[in-house]
Amino acid sequence: MADKARIAILISGAGTNMAALVYASRIADCPYEVVLVAANDPAAGGLALAQAEGIPTFALPHKGMTREAHDAAMEAAVLAAGADHIVLAGYMRILSDGFVQRWAGRMLNIHPSLLPLYKGLDTHARAIAAGESHGGTSVHLVTPELDAGEVLAQIAVPIVPGDTPATLAERVKHAEHQLYPRAVADYVSRWRNPSWLLAQLRARALALPETSEQKSFGSAGFRVGGSKSGKYFAYFSERPHGHERIALLVKTSGMDELHALIEDQPDIYFKPAFYGASGWVGIVLDRPDLDWGDIETWLQRSWRSVAPKRLTRLMNIADQF
Ligand code: GRF
Repeated sequence: MADKARIAILISGAGTNMAALVYASRIADCPYEVVLVAANDPAAGGLALAQAEGIPTFALPHKGMTREAHDAAMEAAVLAAGADHIVLAGYMRILSDGFVQRWAGRMLNIHPSLLPLYKGLDTHARAIAAGESHGGTSVHLVTPELDAGEVLAQIAVPIVPGDTPATLAERVKHAEHQLYPRAVADYVSRWRNPSWLLAQLRARALALPETSEQKSFGSAGFRVGGSKSGKYFAYFSERPHGHERIALLVKTSGMDELHALIEDQPDIYFKPAFYGASGWVGIVLDRPDLDWGDIETWLQRSWRSVAPKRLTRLMNIADQF
């Protein structure tokens, strides 16, 4: 298995979600490890547990500091710990836009409601007052707008007769302690999840003009042109013949380019069985540092090399200027 993701957890209080994340990381095969627990309150209960577990901690009260200065100190601690993701677990601070933007796609939060319902504070009291049948919890990506980033996972939790905000909060926490470790694990390992990779590829391949998806020998393939005269320009291969990795097959300009690619970057490019003989290259997709911009470029090139003239003519003219 590839190296584990390194997460820093930011807390302000009890840290029960932090504890759930830590203990899930102690189960074999968990794809992340906790490299730092940081708090804006030195009295945060979770810090003592993190210390007892041998996890580095950092605490800095925000009082008397600007938001930017406090965020900068927290971020410096996160970077010094070598974290690649920030996981907010009851961190009761609004973060500055710059901080959030630098960690876009690498910062998660858990919020005790079924987002997009009940953003902000007092979620349980508001859900009960509104007569909802359920409260719940959501894990989402952090964006500058509060509690508005993409929702990654949710659990609905029933509201029972006689519930108070405190009793509901306690029940929701049981759900959170199951949900958060799983959602974080899925998120940090999505780069090697075949369904996620195929969905990413599909969105990009089908964004090109006159494309469709059609299976070929059990693999997802992408074609350009009509249903009879169309041609394949890309294949998604979960286990390419003779290769262990998940890959995209696309057309190169020919054997010279194919061999040059493989020689330069043998960890990324390979010659696929059967297709390789006609200049197709395999590109390994299950890499944590995969650049989807590169994949888009390859899809466009391959599309263009097989697309009907009436579709490529305008592009060829544009290229001359
Ligand atoms: C959780 O309910 C979480 O959804 C919210 O703050 C609470 C933190 O609780 N953001 P704990 O400190 O993890 O016990």
